Amino acid sequence: MTIAITGATGALGSLVVGALLTKGVPASQIVAVARSGDRAKTLTDQGVDVRIAAYGDVPALTAALAGVDRLLLISGPESSERVNLHHSVITAAQQANVGFIAYTSAPHADDTVLLVAPDHAATEKLIQSSGLAHTILRNNWYHENYRPHLASARATGKLLTSAGSGQVASAARADYAEAAAVVLTSGDHDGRTYELTGDTAWTFADLATAMSDVLGRPVELVRLDTAAHTAALTAAGLDPRLAQFVTALESTIATGALADATSDLSTLIGRPTTPLVEGLR
Ligand SMILES: NC(=O)c1ccc[n+]([C@@H]2O[C@H](COP(=O)([O-])OP(=O)(O)OC[C@H]3O[C@@H](n4cnc5c(N)ncnc54)[C@H](OP(=O)(O)O)[C@@H]3O)[C@@H](O)[C@H]2O)c1
Repeated sequence: MTIAITGATGALGSLVVGALLTKGVPASQIVAVARSGDRAKTLTDQGVDVRIAAYGDVPALTAALAGVDRLLLISGPESSERVNLHHSVITAAQQANVGFIAYTSAPHADDTVLLVAPDHAATEKLIQSSGLAHTILRNNWYHENYRPHLASARATGKLLTSAGSGQVASAARADYAEAAAVVLTSGDHDGRTYELTGDTAWTFADLATAMSDVLGRPVELVRLDTAAHTAALTAAGLDPRLAQFVTALESTIATGALADATSDLSTLIGRPTTPLVEGLR
């Protein structure tokens, strides 16, 4: 059985390749679809079959997926073209007669106020109407998203938030990668949509406590409204548009959009998910 991963040079993709190798999938049966050979050097060194194709290039993607049985489409970065780029991978999978596709989506993608969700919901619909066997992996946040906050708390002793008492059911990237490897190596999950989360959701007060543990010093939680938080991030040097994106996300966290913790992830990987404090470490 040949398994392909798009976005294989990224943080999640390279962990999925590692998880497949750990599960005993031979490197020769893993296809890493990358848009740059240079970025894929580590994968080549692991003996993985690296094939070059960018999202959007259907002929190159179709050639890259030749002989592939099961495919993981890792969502691309935010852009106005994102759904079209994902569509190109789905079309190529159909043309290459790939038997199965898994897709990394967002929490409750079809019923949420999350800003990033519409592209994921649209991609899910494309997959559902493609006729391909599929599994939807709705990944909650990565613990690792909060490493920049940790770096900032190391420097200032403070964690700023405008998320109120909103909770985040994040998990480590490696946990999501392991779950993807499980789904890719067995047909038992075809047709399923999983809400993948950490076992417990945390508040920003919990995050400040976890950061104190990691840093070995107190971290003060500073609660701000959205406008004051945006201004503080901008004053600290963050690009104003990124600052707005961060605080808009925290507004949606305040509504509970990332709070729903399920057991889907720990069930798939057969162990508890990685605690927040370990993910930050
Ligand atoms: N759940 C969360 O908390 C969370 C957070 C951030 C992002 N995400 C989503 O999850 C995805 C994977 O996360 P990650 O941490 O692995 O992101 P990442 O490290 O940025 O990896 C993204 C991957 O997509 C590839 N890529 C981007 N544009 C492409 C294109 N036009 N054609 C082909 N490949 C392209 C990149 O290739 P290069 O290596 O050549 O750049 C890279 O391999 C992200 O892309 C995003 O959609 C989720």
